[in-house]
Parts: sequence; C-alpha cells; structure tokens
Amino acid sequence: MKRYKIAWLPGDGIGVEVMEAARIVLDAAGFVADYTHGDIGWDFWCREGDALPPRTVELLRSSDAAMFGAITSKPAKAATAELAPELRDKGLSYRSPIVRMRQVFDLYVCLRPCKAYPGNELNVMEGIDLVVFRENTEDLYAGVEFSPVPAELAATLGRLTKSYAPFGGLGPDDLAISCKINTRKGSERIVRAAFDFAKQQGRKKVTVVHKANVVRATDGVFLEEARKVAAAYPEIALDEANIDAMCMWLLKNPFNYDVLVAPNLYGDIISDLCAQMVGGLGFGCSGNIGDKLAVFEPTHGSAPKHAGLYKANPIATILAAKMMLEWLGEKTMAARIEGATAAVLAEGKVKTYDMGGSAKTLDMAKAIAARI
Ligand code: NAI
Ligand code: MG
Repeated sequence: MKRYKIAWLPGDGIGVEVMEAARIVLDAAGFVADYTHGDIGWDFWCREGDALPPRTVELLRSSDAAMFGAITSKPAKAATAELAPELRDKGLSYRSPIVRMRQVFDLYVCLRPCKAYPGNELNVMEGIDLVVFRENTEDLYAGVEFSPVPAELAATLGRLTKSYAPFGGLGPDDLAISCKINTRKGSERIVRAAFDFAKQQGRKKVTVVHKANVVRATDGVFLEEARKVAAAYPEIALDEANIDAMCMWLLKNPFNYDVLVAPNLYGDIISDLCAQMVGGLGFGCSGNIGDKLAVFEPTHGSAPKHAGLYKANPIATILAAKMMLEWLGEKTMAARIEGATAAVLAEGKVKTYDMGGSAKTLDMAKAIAARI
C-alpha cells in the first residue's frame, strides 16, 4: 500500500483535540502515512507576526494532502494589540491563514457534503443528502478591501459611476469598500467540479445559487458560465435559485435539492445552513480542494470556551478525514470510516455534549475506531 505524506495542522483550541480523535480513527482504518506537524494559528501570529509561517507553506507544498483542525482569529485591531511588543510597529496586518492557504495553493473547490446519518437526533429531517460546492478563492473573499478608502479610488469611482454620487462628499473614513470579484475562469471551474461530481455519483440535479437579479455584474458572470458548463451535461438538470429564496426552500423542502453550487459568500451561508440541518457544527466537514493539493477540515472554529476540556464532537473532523481518503483514492478505507461513524450514530449510545450525551471527544473516536 502507498505511504502518504500528510501535513497535520491542529491549530488552536479544540482543533488540537478533534485532530487527536481523527488520528485514532485513521490509524484504526489502516491508513499508512507519515504525518508531519505544521504550525498554524494564533500563537504564531502573536509570536512571529504570521499565522501561516513560510515553513508551513513549504510543508504543504511537499505533502500529498493536509488535515487542519481550527484556528482562533480576531478582528484587525485586536490582532495588532496582541502582537509581541517588538513586532507592533512593523506595519503587520492579520490575514486569515485559511483564506491564505486557499489562495496560495489555489484550492478553488470548497466541498461540503451534508448527510443526515440515520438516528442522529440532531437531524432536522431524516434522509437529507446534500452536497455543496462553494467557490473558494474569489468573490467577496478576494481580500480586495479599502478602509479608509484612498482618495484616488473615491475619485475614480466618482468618475466612472453615477451610482457613487450619493456617497460624494464623504471622507475616507466615512465608508469602506470590499470588492466582490468573480472571474469567468473561477466561476467555470467550480461549476464544472459540481457537474463532474454529480455525473460520477449519479446525481440528477445541480442548483446554481446566485442573486443575479440584483448583483447583476458578478453573479451574472457566474450564472452565464454555469449555463455554458451545464450544456455539456445533458443528463443532469440545471436549476437556478436566488440565495435568499434558497435559504427558505432548503429548510422547507431539502429533498428538492441534490448538488448545490455557489460563489464564495453564498456558498458559505448555505453550507452552514445545510450543516445545521444534519447535526450542526459537530458534523460539518469540508475539503478545500485544488488540482494538486487538498486541505480537509471541520468547519467549526477553535471554540475557546471548550478548549482543553476534550468535550467537542470529533465527528466533523473524522468525516473530513474520510473525505481526505476519498480524494486520495482510498475509497474502501473511506467507506469503512463512514460506515463505522454511521453505525455509532445509529446505535445512539455514545454521544458528545452537543448530542445530549456526556461522552468525551476521544470516547467518540474510540467507539468509531472499534466499529472499524
Ligand atoms: P466555533 O465554531 O469555534 O464555536 C461556536 C460554538 O459552537 C462553540 O462554542 C460550541 O458551542 C459549538 N461547537 C463548535 N464546534 C463544536 C464541536 N466540534 N462539537 C460541539 N460543539 C461545537 O465558533 P466561534 O465561537 O464563533 O469562534 C471561535 C474562534 O474560532 C474565533 O476565533 C473564530 O475566529 C474562529 N473560527 C475559526 C474557524 C476555522 O478555523 N475554520 C471557523 C470559525 C471560527
Ligand atoms: Mg463558514
């Protein structure tokens, strides 16, 4: 069997604990790998001024895939205040290490399967089986933002568009600008990923989530590219929905949907909604996938109030590990992990606090490992 090189990035808070749990399950499944620890998160921002140090980027570059726990992050001013004193006047500004990983390695697919495992009492409804494809590198998360707004930009906007007129006469600190940037290439490739997946999995419908009636330029491009891609997959239906209506319909009738694809922000929103319908943060797993590298993670954060208590639900991270095995082509091992997780859920004896039980993080991992 192949021996894989896995970058192992636990991060902060409960990230460390749920990753320990995932390791127990990966070992039980017989996955053979060299795991190399990578530094990421708040401590490295405070001590070194970089939450994703260059050595971690190098590690990722030389790995087959990565598992990532969670990090703590804070708004710009709070982040600067916590920098080591000798770093404070260096003009450093905090940037999310997750967004950076996605951009540096062009991890353009954020894949978030949301399946209701039978018997999980946290399911809003039984039988839900949705898969969200969220564009992961551009849109409102492109990181092109201005606050304060440079006079040059204000003047240009004033010249190019009349709709900027109501904002005329404002000073640079009276407004802020975050750019929503959607490229044709970025739109095309995420929609193609969703259709390819639907085809491979025998799924029947892909719903494109947008707001092109209002956000006409950028979402218009997304929708146009989606229609072009869909034409090449006549066996799969193309469905289109506005993000706001989508949130209502998803909750009302999730069985009308199958594979969903969306630009970054809308994808972020619907994937949290879908995750909540199948158990919430303890169950939300995701993959950040590019053509050469993929980083798998639970979608929750570092939950500082639970850190050190070993009570967080590790299932999201265990399912993320399962996704990693699928991506690496180890489909049998992945299926074993999923089957064992489903069995423990169906049995309903081992439950973490969020499921109404008192099992600890590693108890859950050991129960799943035992089922394998
Ligand atoms: P969070 O996801 O860390 O936790 C919110 C609440 O959800 C927790 O207090 C807990 O009650 C529950 N929860 C989360 N994960 C759980 C699990 N595995 N099992 C059971 N319950 C769980 O979000 P919050 O509190 O908004 O953010 C905390 C920190 O994490 C912040 O610094 C934030 O910036 C960061 N964050 C990092 C993310 C990442 O690393 N991908 C994602 C979201 C937030
Ligand atoms: Mg989110």
